[in-house]
Amino acid sequence: MRKAIIAGNWKMNKTPAEAAALVNELKPLVADASCDVVVCVPAVDFAAVKEAAAGSNIHLGAQNVHWAASGAFTGELSADMLVAAGVEYVVIGHSERRQYFGETDATVNKRVQAAVAAGLKVILCVGELKEEREAGYTDALVEYQTLIALTGLTNEQVAEVIVAYEPVWAIGTGLTATDEQANETIGVIRKALARKYGQDIADKVRIQYGGSMNPKNVKGLMAQPEIDGGLIGGASLKAPDFSLVVNYDK
Ligand code: 13P
Repeated sequence: MRKAIIAGNWKMNKTPAEAAALVNELKPLVADASCDVVVCVPAVDFAAVKEAAAGSNIHLGAQNVHWAASGAFTGELSADMLVAAGVEYVVIGHSERRQYFGETDATVNKRVQAAVAAGLKVILCVGELKEEREAGYTDALVEYQTLIALTGLTNEQVAEVIVAYEPVWAIGTGLTATDEQANETIGVIRKALARKYGQDIADKVRIQYGGSMNPKNVKGLMAQPEIDGGLIGGASLKAPDFSLVVNYDK
């Protein structure tokens, strides 16, 4: 049995004061969650969230990481810096990074390797564009994105990675993949993992759905056998909404 994991991706939202207020509001609402609860926040909020979340079941995540240990990479953060700031999880390869910041499968792989080496838990994002789904390339694309990103990891390291299947056409659009579409594509990812790493490893990897997941659609999505959690954008920015998603089984 895989433990479900619900993670908020705040994207570029919340000042430190707002971040602390959100976590303080969230803490009692998610205290009895049966899933892992994570918030992936802007780097300027790490300290505020760490302090506000102390002693709670809310875990701190980042939204990106660089592959180098240090050096001339203006604006970037190393895996060791994240660890030192108390970060446990890191989102890598989000479609917004791929679309707007030139992230490629090769750089995603380098970031994954660095994060895993530093002991961070990776949330690896994959997913197709609308045109790619319409052209029938979804399965090939998500398999390729997933396997390339994991290159260089041991089987044991792969088992610890969390994959987030986020169809790009469903992000921030209010359009959600149907429960069946999400389950089917996540099943394709798991089969690809099984072919490459063996069924035992594939059965351990937690695969989330992301893309307009919210209190209304969470139950249906989470009832699907392949879906092990969610990566939540818009609905993670308000404590009542995010807590309803986290408590999908209550
Ligand atoms: P929305 O939930 O706002 O569609 O965002 C999904 C997402 O990109 C999470 O990483």
